[in-house]
Amino acid sequence: MTTTNENDNNDNDGNNDGNNSASKSGGRPDGVVVFGARGRIGRAVAAEARSRGLRVTEAGRAEGDVTSAVDVARLAAGHRAAVVSVYDGRAVPGEFFPAVARALAEGLSRAGVDRLVVVGLASVLATDSGALLMDTPGYPQEWREFSAGHGAGTEALAAAAPAGLDWAVVSPSGDFDHDAAGTGGYRFAAADAGHRIAPADFARAVLDEVQQPTVHAAHAGVVQP
Ligand SMILES: NC(=O)c1ccc[n+]([C@@H]2O[C@H](COP(=O)([O-])OP(=O)(O)OC[C@H]3O[C@@H](n4cnc5c(N)ncnc54)[C@H](OP(=O)(O)O)[C@@H]3O)[C@@H](O)[C@H]2O)c1
Repeated sequence: MTTTNENDNNDNDGNNDGNNSASKSGGRPDGVVVFGARGRIGRAVAAEARSRGLRVTEAGRAEGDVTSAVDVARLAAGHRAAVVSVYDGRAVPGEFFPAVARALAEGLSRAGVDRLVVVGLASVLATDSGALLMDTPGYPQEWREFSAGHGAGTEALAAAAPAGLDWAVVSPSGDFDHDAAGTGGYRFAAADAGHRIAPADFARAVLDEVQQPTVHAAHAGVVQP
């Protein structure tokens, strides 16, 4: 685990018992734990959080298993919010994403984290017609099992999240443009296969939802303005 804060690098001590952060914020936990922080999207999210002066704890498999409520609770302790941006190519999607959701619901609740933003998948976001993107004519079907697994994760989160956990799923409304530098902005949009967003802009949307939540118990898509 790596914990950094532009304002206080002394937090980078590997001690994640939550006492440091709570005492520095007058008894209220602060900061954000990012599960999957070394992945392509998690990196952008962690960088955006740091740029806002937030204390960031980076968590990947080396620090714990995001499908374990015990590990989630340990890593999330002392933080106000959590972001999850995970993918495991070896796992069965229909098992992995619901397991992640259940572990988050239980583990974050135990840790006292009250805001969760999950990086989701556009394929299971509704289009303007109401149909999910993956159900629209011409949409590639080879990743359907993966898409359905992502969707099952959101359903599991909706079923398992306790009342005190304010959660949101945010995904591109179409896809990432991994080579784009970012525009500095974004807008919410229904799913559209042609939409693109840079990871840096997507990270802005995620951090806005961490700091000033507007999406509650729902999946929202974002696209470049
Ligand atoms: N069009 C779209 O909507 C779209 C497009 C692309 C991606 N996405 C979604 O965005 C999310 C992130 O994708 P990405 O491309 O950034 O993935 P990535 O680069 O493969 O990173 C995923 C991260 O997940 C972590 N991870 C995997 N299994 C874990 C476990 N059991 N416990 C803890 N950490 C675990 C890994 O951490 P370590 O390596 O440190 O262990 C890894 O860094 C995924 O959910 C993906 O489906 C959506």
